[in-house]
Amino acid sequence: MKFFLDTANIEQITKANAYGILDGITTNPSLIAKEGADHAQRILEICQIVDGDVSAEVVETEAEAMLTEGRKLAKIHDNVVVKVPLTRDGIKATKMLSSERIRVNVTLCFTANQALLAAKAGAYYISPFVGRLDDISAEGMELIRDIVTIYDNYGYPTQVLTASARGPLHVRDAALCGAHVVTLPYPVFEKLFDHPLTDSGLAQFLADYRKSQEG
Ligand code: G3P
Repeated sequence: MKFFLDTANIEQITKANAYGILDGITTNPSLIAKEGADHAQRILEICQIVDGDVSAEVVETEAEAMLTEGRKLAKIHDNVVVKVPLTRDGIKATKMLSSERIRVNVTLCFTANQALLAAKAGAYYISPFVGRLDDISAEGMELIRDIVTIYDNYGYPTQVLTASARGPLHVRDAALCGAHVVTLPYPVFEKLFDHPLTDSGLAQFLADYRKSQEG
């Protein structure tokens, strides 16, 4: 399973990347705006830190304009995956960009049928938003399960990228469903490491070792 960080914050990206297990980054216009950074400049900076896929989202809404913007984003760095919203124009743009071998992450997916459209258009990643579905009392993880099953049924190569993950259980459940990727806010990524029994067990091991060394 690939782990992406869902942020445009350089400090968080640098810290997470230092563990050596980070596979990429997802950004969106909201995350970059939060950093007060120039869009293209920040994408380049991220690509220079992380050796993995970096999603950069278009802000155009009409297919031809998305195509032009997507081509520009893809030129920033080889690791850029162009992120396109799951709209009618977005699906057209996905088909056109994929035909040019530009990798596309189709975002804002909330149904299995939308995921089918993205796969048919040649998307490299589909991003279903689990947390936002949970927010409206739907079961986000059920969507991940459905999409993984449907893609398997037909052999679509599109990878399922679990987005809008809000806690460690989303990670475990996405992995159980067979999602290819999960993208995480930095605090959730950090939480994956922790267990109180790990801490107390280590403290005990070290205390016993020290005692054994005291003559
Ligand atoms: O990857 C998409 C993600 O940024 C959305 O997360 O928490 O705003 O629903 P959230």
